[in-house]
Amino acid sequence: MKRRIVIAIDGPGGAGKSTIARRLAAKLKFLYIDSGAMYRAVALWASRQGAGLSDMLALEQLARASEIGLSSDPTTVSLNGEDITDAIRTPEIAQAASKVSAIPGVRRALVDKQREMAENSSVVMEGRDIGTVVFPAADVKIFLDADPEVRAARRLRDLEEKAAAVSKEEVLRDLNERDRRDRTRAESPLMQAPDALYLDSSGLSIEEVETAILKIIRSRISNGKEFER
Ligand code: DC
Repeated sequence: MKRRIVIAIDGPGGAGKSTIARRLAAKLKFLYIDSGAMYRAVALWASRQGAGLSDMLALEQLARASEIGLSSDPTTVSLNGEDITDAIRTPEIAQAASKVSAIPGVRRALVDKQREMAENSSVVMEGRDIGTVVFPAADVKIFLDADPEVRAARRLRDLEEKAAAVSKEEVLRDLNERDRRDRTRAESPLMQAPDALYLDSSGLSIEEVETAILKIIRSRISNGKEFER
C-alpha cells in the first residue's frame, strides 16, 4: 500500500536547504514546503500593519489569520492573495522573521498550517524545526549545515542577483545574528534531531548534496518505489 512520505530538511540560513529541497521535491514529485517563507510572510504583514515585534498576541492573531499560499514551478509565495515572493526576500524581513518566529503563539499557528499542508501528500519540508517539532516521525531527516563563510557567500550571491547593495561583512553579521537567535530561543530552537543525518555542504556542489540525500532517501524508503506522491 502506498503511504505518505515526509522528508524534513533543517539547518541554518544559507546551508542550501531551499535549493536542495526544491530539487528533491521536483525529482520525487512531492510537495515542496518552505516553512521559512511562512514566517517571512507573517513578518511582512506585521511590518505593514505596524504591529510591534513584542506584541505577541497581535502577532499570533496575524499568523492565524494569514492565508499563505506556496507554489512551485516557479516558486511563489502569496499572502492573502497577494504575490509576496520578492517582498519577503529582503535582509529586513529575514531579521523580522527570525524575531516573530521566537513567539510561541506564532509558531503554533504556523506549525498547524504546515501540518495541514502536508496532510494529503508526500512532502519535502525545509526549516528549523521540521524534524524536531513539526514532523518528529518524518521518514527522513537531514540537518544541512555549512561553514558560516560559505553560507554568507551564498546569501550574498542570492542578494546580488536581486541587485541588492550589501557587503559580505553585513551578510555574515546578519546571518550570525539570526542563527544565534534561532538556535537560542526557548521555543523550538534550531537544533539537529537526534535521528537526523548531519550533512555539511561546504565543499559540495548542489548535485553532490542532492545525490547524497537521494541515496539516503532511497535506502530508507522501500527502494524509493512505494510511496504516494
Ligand atoms: O529559512 P528562512 O531564512 O527563510 O527563515 C526565516 C526565519 O524564519 C529564520 O531566521 C527562522 C524562522 N524559521 C523558523 O523559526 N522555523 C522554521 N521552520 C523556518 C524558519
